Amino acid sequence: MTYYFDRIDSTNKYIKEHVSELQDFDIVSAGFQTSGKGRNDHVWQGQPNQNVYSSIYIKNKDIVHSFNLLSIAIGVIVMKFLTPFCEKDKISIKWPNDVYVNGQKICGILLEGQLPNYVVAGIGININQNSFDLDNVTSLSLLNSKTFDLNELRDDFHFHLLDELQNFDSNKQDYIDAFNKHNYLLGKKVSFNYNGTPSEGIAGPINNDGSLQIQQGDKTINVFFDEVSIIR
Ligand code: BTN
Repeated sequence: MTYYFDRIDSTNKYIKEHVSELQDFDIVSAGFQTSGKGRNDHVWQGQPNQNVYSSIYIKNKDIVHSFNLLSIAIGVIVMKFLTPFCEKDKISIKWPNDVYVNGQKICGILLEGQLPNYVVAGIGININQNSFDLDNVTSLSLLNSKTFDLNELRDDFHFHLLDELQNFDSNKQDYIDAFNKHNYLLGKKVSFNYNGTPSEGIAGPINNDGSLQIQQGDKTINVFFDEVSIIR
């Protein structure tokens, strides 16, 4: 079931506060969020009725157990949805799941929840917004010089998201392969905190469990996103 609110504090927060009433794969979406939440305690702001602000409640045990891969998968699912509207070789995913077009961010994803019980995957996709307070941000409308039918696009996205997640198990390898084909960080120098210690290395591909390989000289470190923050 999909619940739509014209205005809400945060679709992620709504799900976390209503888990006992919600079913697996229920979606909560809004026209506007007054306290949209981003990763690392950032805010996620956007103009009213211009963008997709949606969250999905996932309690399917197999998917929740694959939390790190799910994080990758949601980015790939968004990338697949946006590809028809973008130049295919210009779209990429910055590990674990920010979707970029031409080096500008078009989608942010926030996974929250209570493992091993459930995960909330919150997805913000810039659709018709044409001006942003931040640099290096884009929208479908800026990329295509046209305004999209937001309601139609949102419904199509929800349909695509459900279809993908219902086949999560058989799609796992596709998610890894698609990510590695469009890996924004590949070959780039990254700084990160590993077990509390600042470190640097060169980003490589991801492994089948969703961890990122980072090369330090002849040593390869595999990092999970809850252990690491990419600083640059
Ligand atoms: C990021 O920092 O890149 C993640 C942004 C996630 C934003 C989405 S919009 C829908 C859902 N509700 C929220 O409050 N946040 C997520």
